[in-house]
Amino acid sequence: MVTRYPAYDLSRRNTFGMKVSCRLYMEITEPEDLLALDFDALPQPVFVMGGGSNLLFTGDYQGTVMHLGNASCHAERSEESVLVTLGSGVVFDDFCAWAAAESLWGPENLSLIPGEVGASAVQNIGAYGVEAKDIIDTVHAFDLRERRFVDIPGADCGYGYRTSNFKTTWKGRYIITAVTFRLSLVPTPVLDYSGVRKALIDRGKGVPSPISGHPRPDKREGPAGFAGGRGRSEAEAIGEGIPFPLTPQIIRETIIGIREKKLPDPAKIGSAGSFFCNPVIEKDHFARIVALAKAENGPEYEVPHYEAGEKVKVPAAWMIDQCGFKGMRLGGAQVYPNQPLVIVNATGDATPQDIITLEQRVIDTIQDKYGITLHPEVEHV
Ligand code: EPU
Repeated sequence: MVTRYPAYDLSRRNTFGMKVSCRLYMEITEPEDLLALDFDALPQPVFVMGGGSNLLFTGDYQGTVMHLGNASCHAERSEESVLVTLGSGVVFDDFCAWAAAESLWGPENLSLIPGEVGASAVQNIGAYGVEAKDIIDTVHAFDLRERRFVDIPGADCGYGYRTSNFKTTWKGRYIITAVTFRLSLVPTPVLDYSGVRKALIDRGKGVPSPISGHPRPDKREGPAGFAGGRGRSEAEAIGEGIPFPLTPQIIRETIIGIREKKLPDPAKIGSAGSFFCNPVIEKDHFARIVALAKAENGPEYEVPHYEAGEKVKVPAAWMIDQCGFKGMRLGGAQVYPNQPLVIVNATGDATPQDIITLEQRVIDTIQDKYGITLHPEVEHV
């Protein structure tokens, strides 16, 4: 079904809570309806949005905003994995919750990321050492150029850090209708990202669980056990020091606990998650940053960073923090105090210009101090 809403208020359709509108909003629940649609007759340009959780509308949109509300779901089980095909409009965290409840491995570290399935395959969403690309088998899309439905293997989508061909070389060509994810019946815990293992160990020690209402698992003798069968020995090694059986559900709860401490609650405060990408720089450039940080903070000071092949990824949050931006307000916009990579709509009535002015101030300051140009992760529309 295709439903058209002229002069549509987008305030509730973007998690930043920007009070903007579009000339035409279209809700499409059956992908097949795309075949009969005359795109040239729609107010231009046409923008396809997902859950609106990674967008900054910079003003009223003069064209058409289209949303694929396809919420279909189909699962096929084989010996070691389950292929689950979900419509673009399925809420990504509903998928994570379902997989965890079914003891299926794969998306547990991506728990609580806002947004929908279709956008997850465009943006290659990621958190705590896992990216959507790790579990995407096939992307199903409507090819606007050829006017036909296509199935694109995940391996051909050009996935990288928060990017894919859908954002670059293929931009505007495909409308994603569904995504097939490959989930594992074999344990595949990923605990290496800072904080995840510690949170699990703390949970085992009886440190109060950050998630209220969820009972902690019983302690038991011996090494960590795992749900599922094969892959047990590798998984046991990964789970070393964690005194209870690891399951996707326990990891999901732990990730939710970590996220809730750092990130604003989307129900209470508007944001689009991380506003900037973490920059990847040359090693000699990083060495200059380390020297500067030690000069400012003392010789023992260590700059957080991750190896990225021959280069180094430096957390933008750290740089923004070092520049004193935590909690800084500009109009209704604010650098979130608990995680300065996030810009929030603190008052609820921040304007796009408030956000953009604060964004530019952060970019200019980081450029001056560290010689790094931060790039927004949030798409500006
Ligand atoms: N840090 C500070 N000061 C702070 C906060 C953080 O110095 O106030 C430093 C810390 O050293 C910390 C480091 O920044 O270790 C990195 O912070 P964190 O681990 O919270 O993650 P991030 O790099 O800021 C990325 C993703 C998040 C994802 C987390 C966890 C990007 C742009 N963001 O953030 O994704 O949840 O890692 O994997 O890559 C999103 O995309 O919207 C998002 C929230």
